[in-house]
Amino acid sequence: MKFFIDTANLEQIKEGAALGILDGVTTNPSLMAKEGIKGAEAIKQHYIDICNIVDGDISAEVLSTTFEEMIVEGKELASLHKNIVVKVPCTADGIKAIKWFADNGIRTNCTLIFTVGQALLAAKAGASYVSPFVGRLDDISSDGIGLVSQIVDVFYTYGYETEVLAASIRSTQHIIDCLEVGAHVATCPLQPILGLLKHPLTDSGMATFIADTAKMQ
Ligand code: G3P
Repeated sequence: MKFFIDTANLEQIKEGAALGILDGVTTNPSLMAKEGIKGAEAIKQHYIDICNIVDGDISAEVLSTTFEEMIVEGKELASLHKNIVVKVPCTADGIKAIKWFADNGIRTNCTLIFTVGQALLAAKAGASYVSPFVGRLDDISSDGIGLVSQIVDVFYTYGYETEVLAASIRSTQHIIDCLEVGAHVATCPLQPILGLLKHPLTDSGMATFIADTAKMQ
C-alpha cells in the first residue's frame, strides 16, 4: 500500500519525507487555506514547493465548479510539474472534466467519494484515483472502511485500473484497516503515520538495550 501525506504544511511534509516512506501528497482547499495560502500565484508556488520535497503524485484540487473552468484550471495545475494529479470533486461537471482530462493525458483524483456508485462513475470516466472519505463517513455512524473495501472489490472484479486512495484518515488504526481491505493508497496526516512506530515494548526494549550498551563501555 502506498502512503501519501494529507497536508499542505511544508514542515510536516518534510518530516514525513525524511522518514523515506512517502509516495505522494494530497491537499484540498481547506488544508491550503489552513496554511494561509492566498492568491493564484501563491497557490501555484506552494504546489511547486511540495513537488520539490516529495517525488511522487501530488494532488492539487481545482477550486472551480463548472466543467469549462475546471478544464482551464486543471490544465494549468498539471503544467506546473509532471507529478501533479488534478483533484476534481465528484459532481456532474467533475465527472465530465475527469473524462476530458483522461482523454487528454492528465491524471486525476476524484474526491468527495461517499458511495460505490460515485466511485464507479469516476472510474468509468477514467480517474487515476478515487478518494473515499473514511473519517467523514465514520463521523455520521456510517462505515468508512466498509466503503473502501466495497470499492476495492468492485474495481478488482471489473478490472478497473483506477486506484482506491483512502482519504479522511483520522487514526493509526484506520491505516491498518486500509491495509487489511486492500486500499491501493492511504493518505494520512503525519500523526497517524508516526503512530505506526509506537509500541511500549519497543520503548522499554530500547531503554534496556541503551542501559546495557552503557555497561559495555
Ligand atoms: O483528503 C481529504 C481529507 O483531507 C479530508 O479529511 O479529516 O477533513 O475529513 P478530513
